[in-house]
Amino acid sequence: MEGNPEHAGRLLVRGGGRLLGDVALSGAKNSALKLMAATLLTSGPCRIRRTPRISDVDTMTEMLRALGVDVARDGDELFVSAAGHLNDCAPYELVRTMRASIVVMGPLVARLGEAMIAMPGGCNIGPRRIDFHLRGLEKLGAAVEIEHGFIKVRCGQLRGAVVSLDYPSVGATENLVMAATAAEGETVIENAAREPEIADLCAYLRGMGAEIEGEGTSTVRVAGGRPLHGVDHTVVADRIEAGTYLIMGAATAGDVAVHGLDAEHLELFLTKLGDMGVEVAAHDDVIRVRRDGPLAPVDVSTLPHPGFATDLQAQMMVLLLLAEGTSILTENVFENRFVVVDELNRLGAGITTSGHHAVVSGPRGLTGTVVEAPDLRGGAALVTAGLVADGVTEVRGMHHVDRGYEDLVGKLGRLGADVERVADQGER
Ligand code: UD1
Repeated sequence: MEGNPEHAGRLLVRGGGRLLGDVALSGAKNSALKLMAATLLTSGPCRIRRTPRISDVDTMTEMLRALGVDVARDGDELFVSAAGHLNDCAPYELVRTMRASIVVMGPLVARLGEAMIAMPGGCNIGPRRIDFHLRGLEKLGAAVEIEHGFIKVRCGQLRGAVVSLDYPSVGATENLVMAATAAEGETVIENAAREPEIADLCAYLRGMGAEIEGEGTSTVRVAGGRPLHGVDHTVVADRIEAGTYLIMGAATAGDVAVHGLDAEHLELFLTKLGDMGVEVAAHDDVIRVRRDGPLAPVDVSTLPHPGFATDLQAQMMVLLLLAEGTSILTENVFENRFVVVDELNRLGAGITTSGHHAVVSGPRGLTGTVVEAPDLRGGAALVTAGLVADGVTEVRGMHHVDRGYEDLVGKLGRLGADVERVADQGER
């Protein structure tokens, strides 16, 4: 069954069926947003292929337009040109809607010598500080002031420096790499984040003419000052989307293959699935999971890449609920990232938490009811739970899930899931 397709408020999931079939992966949200921001670095035309149709990309499009950038979309391709007059001010309404928009700071400073970014407010997965971004930019010679709710960053000429991050922050690494392309001399980012999306950003910047090496390792070097031009690039596949469908396949005792991803991007995750008793096979860019037996419990700790991704933690919790025994899940990356537990418990999960540990005991028989997505990945976990719950689960707040999953209903439907979108009252 399929209802109102785009951005409807609720998803009705009838559980119990096995998911069978193939999923063509979309481009990674966490790369596409950064590639879009990086177009600010050049007046040359940029073409970004395999851009996911998700609301976070719409928000970044609005942000770029607010900054004076031309953005046009044709299917899954974006054509972006920052050749006209640019503004340096990222407005509060957009930063508030999507904290990732803070990533325009590095490229704005690089291109214009200044940026005014509204301070991001609170967020329901913890405070999400940006002190590493700011300290890193100061290291490159920028002056940072905070007044009237805005972060003002100014610089004459940025100068290359050694920036050692206290923690391998994804956003800080990205902001600093982009700013460093305009710095005089070499910048070395130590303890850099190693996520595949950072490697994708660096490949994109190299396509623009930047000189960067070491991405994917803890030390990234940028030789600044190279002239940057337009680029044509295909976004890396979304490993979190892949992991979500693989979990759904394993949870429903199904047989699901995801297409378009290098299995190395999910290495530890796939090892954990194997340890649980899921059959995992990876060939070329296809990863397939199958299950027909019971699941064993495993302990999972989230860590920066190549550790277990925090963005798969909530979905993994649902799979652990089906295992025979007790698993401990430890969240090390974000505070308050167990916000979905209360909703899962409404489905009968019986999960307990203490600080950053969750105790998940199974196997649990879940029963469908009305639940509310607390955030993007929590929403995906609730949909996963709905697929194995008895009866119908109504997941409200689907706008959170629309931030990061392209065509969720279509992709699930093609796997045989019984899902239907329903507009909230008042929506058309
Ligand atoms: C990115 C991803 C997000 C993912 C996360 C971790 C995007 C759009 N989002 O978020 O989906 O869950 O990486 O893999 O790519 N921190 C500080 N000070 C800073 C920066 C970060 O204390 O200046 C802390 C944060 O509060 C958090 C941790 O470091 O606890 C990780 O944050 P970071 O790696 O920066 O994540 P994001 O880039 O925000």
